[in-house]
Amino acid sequence: MRILVIGSGGREHALVWKIAQSKLADKIFCAPGNAGIAQIAECIDIKADDIAGLLDFARKERIDFTVVGPEAALSLGIVDEFQKAGLKIFGPNKEAATLEASKVFSKELMAKYKVPTAEFKVFDNPDEAKEYIEKIGAPCVVKADGLAAGKGVVVAKTIDEARKAVEAMMRDKVFGAAGNKVIIEECLQGQEASILVITDSKEVIALASAQDHKRVFDNDCGPNTGGMGVYSPAPVVTKELFKEILEKIVYRTIDGLVKEGIDYRGVLYAGIMLTKEGPKTLEFNVRFGDPETQAILPRLKSDLLEVMLATAEQKLNRIKNLEWDERSSVCVVCAAGGYPGNYEKGKEIFGLDEVAKIKDVVIFHAGTKLRTVNDVGQKQEKEYLTNGGRVLGVVGLGKTIQEAIANTYAAVKKISFEGMHYRKDIGEKALMSNDKIQNPK
Ligand code: AMP
Ligand code: GLY
Repeated sequence: MRILVIGSGGREHALVWKIAQSKLADKIFCAPGNAGIAQIAECIDIKADDIAGLLDFARKERIDFTVVGPEAALSLGIVDEFQKAGLKIFGPNKEAATLEASKVFSKELMAKYKVPTAEFKVFDNPDEAKEYIEKIGAPCVVKADGLAAGKGVVVAKTIDEARKAVEAMMRDKVFGAAGNKVIIEECLQGQEASILVITDSKEVIALASAQDHKRVFDNDCGPNTGGMGVYSPAPVVTKELFKEILEKIVYRTIDGLVKEGIDYRGVLYAGIMLTKEGPKTLEFNVRFGDPETQAILPRLKSDLLEVMLATAEQKLNRIKNLEWDERSSVCVVCAAGGYPGNYEKGKEIFGLDEVAKIKDVVIFHAGTKLRTVNDVGQKQEKEYLTNGGRVLGVVGLGKTIQEAIANTYAAVKKISFEGMHYRKDIGEKALMSNDKIQNPK
């Protein structure tokens, strides 16, 4: 089969890497891809949200199956356009993608179908939003309704901070129309976990659990990022909790979507807070998580392409279950100096060749590009340069989480580029919850 993967991050590198292992894949293209993806697929210079360009390419190149990484293309309706053209594609259609594109839609669906989530209220008037903030007090959470590149959520410690967030979103329109409506919600406490499932609206297959680390510095300090690291499985999600999350959150949501007449096919990603009252939904995403995918896919033994094809054809019942590597995985993100604020690009990356030789470690590129240097002699040298905030995801496997942590960080230490920073504590929370699980008080 001829496959097209859309996107350019670490998630897409992991998807291409996994699809390339399928016996069904003959040729893989990636639009636009990155320098790591270019090692295993043909990268084409079409932006991930250029739907007309992608459609044109898929037709001309006789693409058999397209896999969409980022949410923007999904919410623009890429799946609807491909389907209209008779092309097979993995991901939810535009209507189904509203689950991520509108937090108001998602919260209202959860309320209607009794999916546990934080108490909330929706506002289209900033004064009323601020009045409500005074009433409920701090801490509270202010969320822009629409897509805001992962920046539309403010967990406000004070009333003043919450009021400022409302002003910024609703009056200053820092996220444009995404801030026309805001949600003010109760602040939940607990550990977070990411639960991803694949569904065709009839069947649901869960992927391994994972825990992301959104804050930039160790011990969950500093501003939020796209994700600085992740491990899988998340031991805090015990078998019982996993079952409860599936029953009370995932199945109820998918049933709710079906009752609303929405045909959901693709990945459903539930961001969960494990509170004292039980698991509650923080948000839904309609795509694979980044960096969750980088830690989850190296543990998946089954053929992902086969599963995705069955999903698109609404024949997921053909897939019995997924086979997993019992080992743990840890993914540490190497970020550019300054990230998540302003950062420089174009710094040479060292150590990639050395890490490529290490067993049980794989590197997924996120923000990288290739420079081919012509020496005076005819020799061509390839240089990998930084080209984004999150530059690389280094993933290590291990029989225990401790071993996975050790393998990953041993590899991370071999990588360098000017300004590089990374969290040093990815995986530690898993050790804490292991202790708790083994020694209940
Ligand atoms: P979201 O994009 O909705 O997942 O929000 C981004 C991050 O904000 C989450 O991963 C949580 O860390 C935090 N967050 C969102 N909603 C809440 C909430 N109700 N209570 C506490 N933290 C939250
Ligand atoms: N890991 C967070 C996200 O993919 O949105």
